[in-house]
Formats: sequence, structure tokens, C-alpha cells
Amino acid sequence: MDEVKAAAAKGGFDIEGLEIIDPLNYDKMDEMVDAMVAIRKGKQTPEECRELLKKGNYFGTMLVKMGVADSLLGGATYSTADTVRPALQIVKTKPGAHLVSSCIILQKEGADLLCMADPAINVSYEDKKDKEGNVVLSAAAQLAEVAVETARTAKIFGIDPKVAMLSFSTKGSGKGATVPLSQEATRIAKEMAPDLALDGEMQFDAAVSPVVGQLKFPGSSVAGYANTFIFPCLEAGNIGYKIAQRLGGYAAYGPILQGLNAPINDLSRGCNADEVYKMAIITAALA
Ligand SMILES: CC(C)(COP(=O)(O)OP(=O)(O)OC[C@H]1O[C@@H](n2cnc3c(N)ncnc32)[C@H](O)[C@@H]1OP(=O)(O)O)[C@@H](O)C(=O)NCCC(=O)NCCS
Repeated sequence: MDEVKAAAAKGGFDIEGLEIIDPLNYDKMDEMVDAMVAIRKGKQTPEECRELLKKGNYFGTMLVKMGVADSLLGGATYSTADTVRPALQIVKTKPGAHLVSSCIILQKEGADLLCMADPAINVSYEDKKDKEGNVVLSAAAQLAEVAVETARTAKIFGIDPKVAMLSFSTKGSGKGATVPLSQEATRIAKEMAPDLALDGEMQFDAAVSPVVGQLKFPGSSVAGYANTFIFPCLEAGNIGYKIAQRLGGYAAYGPILQGLNAPINDLSRGCNADEVYKMAIITAALA
């Protein structure tokens, strides 16, 4: 606590009205442990929960779950996995959602805002099966849900979403790997959100260049004009946004988590003070 106050004083910030809570001296810790044990339904013992709650990531998530805090921003010192796992285990998906995903908002002076997904959570999309081996949620349905959720997030930031389901193939020009996944996800997403401007599968050049878009995907209202990009796996999404950020000169805000039952967001460990500041405002606004 003294450390936080000293850091604030050194930075010239007045934090007089703020409440600083230390997980190691929290007066409602017993109540918090009981609540977490109940949520984890036998997956973690009381001793394990108490141990985990000494850490800021689990403690902060439980503060949100218990309604003490409205939202949480973490990740400057934890990996994405360690920031997100407590949220997935404790806060879980919002009603109607099947999975949590993330998106990045990209901003550059003089250019339109862009949105990319998923750069941080879903490594790849696999069919989810029950114990009998029946598919309960297909990989394509998951990617389609990411696309529809991302369009929703884009709208919150004032983007009128034109969603491109990205691939190394445009309209069947390439075969194999994730091409069928992007094709089927496009079909499902159109069913889920018939009024959404969404097309695929398409390559990035077809998505952003009107000339290439017209050539490779004639008749599409999205090709050439896309501003919301759905990658077929985490590798592509994570590498893609970092190219825009580091070589394209875009500022990147996020990952912003989608599908969670409370506003909890993650920072990249490479973040700077301005990104922390802006993500704090975004996270508070989402609450
Ligand atoms: C998000 C992530 C951490 C979850 O991994 P994990 O902890 O090994 O996941 P598990 O399969 O053990 O699942 C933990 C819990 O989260 C849930 N979960 C996992 N992924 C989920 C998703 N996408 N949406 C909703 N719930 C999810 C599981 O159902 C499980 O719940 P339960 O404990 O109540 O049964 C993992 O997908 C990951 O590491 N992603 C990549 C992170 C990364 O490196 N990003 C790049 C840098 S930004």
C-alpha cells in the first residue's frame, strides 16, 4: 500500500479518494474463498482457492464477481493466459455466448478505425464434443460467433462494421488448412446476423483494396472496404495486428475481451503508459 502511495506521489498523481486493497490483508478473504470454492464446483479445494486469491489476477477477478469492482484491467505484469484464465473460470461467458474471444482496435491519425479478432484467446478452433463424441459446437460456429461478437464490439467504438472473414484464399481460390473453416463460418455468421455486412472467405488484399476486391470478389459490398477482420486462428490474428502496429504505425488498443459476463480486459506486457491509460478508460466505459 505504501508502495502504491509512494509511486503515485513520485508520478505527481493525487490518489487521495482511491481505495487501495491489499489481497494479503483483505478483511473479507474468508467470504471470498467460500464464494470461489462454490463457483469452482469441486475443481479447486478451499486451500487452493485461498492460495490463488493471494495473487492479483484471481483476487481482482473475484472482486468483480462479488460486485466490489465493476471492471478489471490487468496483464501489464501477467501473461494473457494468466490474466484471462481466472476470468474464464470465475466470471465465465455471458448468457447466450458460447466462448470468450478478443479483439484489437487499431487507430491511426487520418485513417479509419479498424478492428481485428482474435489476437489473444482462441489458439485454434476445434469442434467441441460431448462424452459420446457428438459435436455440440462446431469449430465454424465458434469462429462465426467471434465474427458477430467482434462486429458488436466494433460498433461500440463507432465503427460501422464491414466484416471480412480472412483466409489465404478468396472465394475458393485456395484449398486446404483453414479454408473450409472460414467458408463455413461465413455461412453460419450470415445466418446469425443477416443484416451484418460480412463476407468471406477472402485474402487481406481483397478485403482492403477496392481494385483487388472487385477483381477477386466481384459483387461483394465488403471486399475492398473491410474495417473488421476475422482471422482463422490466433497465430494469424496476433501476428497480423502487430504488423499493423509496428510497421503500419497504428496504435493498438486491447485485447478487448468479448463474450465474458463482466468487463475484464488484458494488456500486452509490451504496453506503454498511454495504452494502460486508454485501456483503463475503455474498460471503465464498458462497465
Ligand atoms: C485462454 C487460455 C489461457 C485458456 O487456457 P487454459 O487455462 O489452458 O484452458 P483450459 O482448457 O484449462 O480452461 C480453463 C477454463 O476456461 C474455460 N475456457 C477455456 N477457453 C475458453 C474460451 N475461449 N471461452 C470460454 N471459456 C473458455 C474452460 O472451459 C475452463 O473452464 P473450467 O475450469 O470451469 O472447466 C488459452 O486458450 C491460451 O493460452 N490462449 C492463448 C493466450 C496467448 O498466449 N495469447 C497470445 C498473447 S496475447
